[in-house]
Amino acid sequence: MSSAPKVWLAGARGMLGSVIATKLSERSIPFVGTDVDLDVANAEAVDAFLRSERPSVILNAAAYTRVDDAESQAADAFRVNAEGATTLARGARALGAAYLYFSTDYVFDGRAQSPYVEDAPCAPVSVYGRSKREGEIGVLRTLEGARGYVLRTSWLFGENGPSFVRTMLTLMREREELRVVRDQVGRPTYTHDLADVALRLVGLGGAAAPPGIYHFANSGPTSWYDFAQGIRQTALRLGASLRVTSILPVSTAEFPRPAPRPAYSVLDTRRIEQVLGITPRHWAEALGEHLARELRGQQ
Ligand SMILES: NC(=O)c1ccc[n+]([C@@H]2O[C@H](COP(=O)([O-])OP(=O)(O)OC[C@H]3O[C@@H](n4cnc5c(N)ncnc54)[C@H](OP(=O)(O)O)[C@@H]3O)[C@@H](O)[C@H]2O)c1
Repeated sequence: MSSAPKVWLAGARGMLGSVIATKLSERSIPFVGTDVDLDVANAEAVDAFLRSERPSVILNAAAYTRVDDAESQAADAFRVNAEGATTLARGARALGAAYLYFSTDYVFDGRAQSPYVEDAPCAPVSVYGRSKREGEIGVLRTLEGARGYVLRTSWLFGENGPSFVRTMLTLMREREELRVVRDQVGRPTYTHDLADVALRLVGLGGAAAPPGIYHFANSGPTSWYDFAQGIRQTALRLGASLRVTSILPVSTAEFPRPAPRPAYSVLDTRRIEQVLGITPRHWAEALGEHLARELRGQQ
């Protein structure tokens, strides 16, 4: 990048956005962070903001992420995840800025038996998944031939938000027995690792990667059940006091939720590994780092 980059980070108070904001500050990269104070689907407000700030890089971590609620609030989910994503893409095109939209493994139907590559057919099974897929299409179409990135990830955990890890930790302190789904398989991802990769992809700290779709997740496909066992063992190793003595595997059918989930949503990350020359670390290592941070804050 020839002149100093200026970043607009949308969704800066979310679980992922807050970590990206910290990393941008630590690296002294100038940025403006917004969240619900600047509604990404409000085209007029977004245009006015872009005219005054003129960012060279736009990172969109703003999203409607309540997967179950989305089933009954489809219009809200589509407004943020599809319309908002596309509004920002139009702004990026007008400015010639790089634009990265975070997306999800839930764009796939989960019927595959080997990891999903970037151009595998999408067939989301939930409203949330459909809204994110429509966002991807809006971004890629609007920025065709320009600097548009879609970065799909899965099973996010991190410090500043509700996540499976946080929920499990709370339940493990409250209950002796837990039931956790074993027939859904995916790749857990730590927000810190994803944030590092996203910044590199758009050229913040090196040359930018070619635009397009990328997948990133920590390594080690696992089930929610095995992930829960990993959380318990790691928390105990770090000195947490837990009530839970038994974690029982259950099936998705025994644990009905409003939104269907893909049974198998393992992302193939070879493209990003090759382009950036990285090897994602195992989720268990990242989980250890995360829980050490979480528990330090609580003990
Ligand atoms: N969490 C996961 O397991 C997961 C997995 C795969 C992919 N992803 C993707 O990763 C990205 C980051 O997820 P996350 O877990 O960090 O989400 P998050 O914690 O829910 O953060 C999203 C942020 O966007 C804000 N927001 C909502 N509507 C907005 C609007 N109209 N305008 C501006 N900001 C708005 C939210 O505010 P409120 O909280 O007040 O609504 C929140 O602060 C998303 O694109 C998500 O789809 C997440």
